[in-house]
Amino acid sequence: MKTNIKDVIINEEEIANKVSELAVEIQRDYAGKKLLVIGVLKGASVFLADLIRKLDLDIRIDFISASSYGMSSISSGEVKIDKDLDYPINGENILIVEDIIDTGLTLKYLVDNLSSRAPADIKICTLLDKPSRREVNIAVDYIGFEIPDRFIVGYGIDYAEKYRNLPYIAVIEE
Ligand code: IMP
Ligand code: MG
Repeated sequence: MKTNIKDVIINEEEIANKVSELAVEIQRDYAGKKLLVIGVLKGASVFLADLIRKLDLDIRIDFISASSYGMSSISSGEVKIDKDLDYPINGENILIVEDIIDTGLTLKYLVDNLSSRAPADIKICTLLDKPSRREVNIAVDYIGFEIPDRFIVGYGIDYAEKYRNLPYIAVIEE
């Protein structure tokens, strides 16, 4: 069982600087447009909270929650929506905000699902990316940090629902 914080791989200052950089890019790309920011619960909640406060744009936020069917350690690609958006998204410019993209299966499902609701546009922003683990092709528009294939927690990201409150990103090991 994973219980110990091993190494802090991204500290608070590095996260804050990256969030500001991403916000500059997003603000430039959406200048003069309306934007609907969709956070993927629960992991992206901390990142989203920091990111939107750096955006001087006409935004609204909504949240969606999805999980894989079957054994939690194996990404089957069969995803179910546990909490759907509160409002329709047809005609909206969507920015999906994720904590981490691993195999990409969850996000692929979400993009396909949301695309079928006729939004004007969908872009993706993730704080962390593990490209070595990708199983499906997915175009990510804004990436905070590429990280190696290690199990990390903190800044919204959990292990067994714990550690989301850590202000940094850390590796945990047994
Ligand atoms: P994917 O469908 O494999 O891309 O799954 C992505 C989801 O798996 C993320 O949103 C996280 O909830 C979870 N996940 C992937 N890697 C990690 C990790 O290193 N620590 C904690 N959760 C992770
Ligand atoms: Mg997630």
